[in-house]
Amino acid sequence: MRHLLNPLDFTVEETTKLLDLASDIEKNPAKYSEKCKGKKIATLFYEPSTRTRLSFEAAMLNLGGSVLGFSSASSSSASKGESVSDTIRMVSCYADICAMRHPKEGAPTVASMKSRIPVINAGDGGHQHPTQTLTDMMTIRSLKGRLDNLTIGLCGDLKFGRTVHSLIKSLVRYENIKFILISPKELKIPSYIREDVLDANNIPYEEVTHMEDKLKDLDILYMTRVQQERFFNEEEYIRLKDSYILDKEKMNLANEGMLVLHPLPRVNEISVEIDDDPRACYFKQVQYSVYVRMAIILTLLGLTDNN
Ligand code: NCD
Repeated sequence: MRHLLNPLDFTVEETTKLLDLASDIEKNPAKYSEKCKGKKIATLFYEPSTRTRLSFEAAMLNLGGSVLGFSSASSSSASKGESVSDTIRMVSCYADICAMRHPKEGAPTVASMKSRIPVINAGDGGHQHPTQTLTDMMTIRSLKGRLDNLTIGLCGDLKFGRTVHSLIKSLVRYENIKFILISPKELKIPSYIREDVLDANNIPYEEVTHMEDKLKDLDILYMTRVQQERFFNEEEYIRLKDSYILDKEKMNLANEGMLVLHPLPRVNEISVEIDDDPRACYFKQVQYSVYVRMAIILTLLGLTDNN
């Protein structure tokens, strides 16, 4: 039995296969509409979510399966003190696969140890978010045609932004990747990514506080929200929340082919005035997320054609 807890749980070859499958689903959705008939996904969300939970549910429904779950810790027995390990034992009796989001780093990994069904990490605290990363990779591959030879600007909350951590871990496995890390000094990338991932793999990167003079060099600009819920100090959040606002003026400094990605939700960091710019791809990303999550469910349930 396989779980998806960390972006590196799939090898580069397996990732390519999964993204190929997601692209085939995009082209031939009808072919997949009954693949999960009789199967159930449990969505166990101890933290707020719109896209991730609904896209997992949409993915399972598109595959002909059904869904059950909860969307907040307060509506589950966690509020009575039940442990994640006990909850997953129950859920293993009700569903065939589950997606879990939890505010504590490592909670889905703990769950996987007691689980009899595949566990998908749908975001654990400020740590990782592998299914968003696969979505980001499908978006980049579909719209840029490659995952190598890219200069990627990551902007905003690089400290707490789990989507950023997972994306870096995954992309360093491709040739000629360079990162421009744009953040206030308080929200710089954590050392377990800088040292253990970037330095350890000899990946070129720059850490800067301003985006303006870097925009012309970027193939991808990945914007992120300042993660209010991870701050200990409200004043600090208020001071940092509007550190970057991508607007028309800044887009004029960027090159023609630069794609703007954002895992969403956005707050103020992308002005709505650029939503119609052809380089703004964050809503396309949302559509790709459904195909990717369908491919993840099929892969973890062993329901791909080669099985
Ligand atoms: C992200 C998350 O939950 O980490 N959202 C998502 O899953 N698309 C990003 C965020 O909340 O800022």
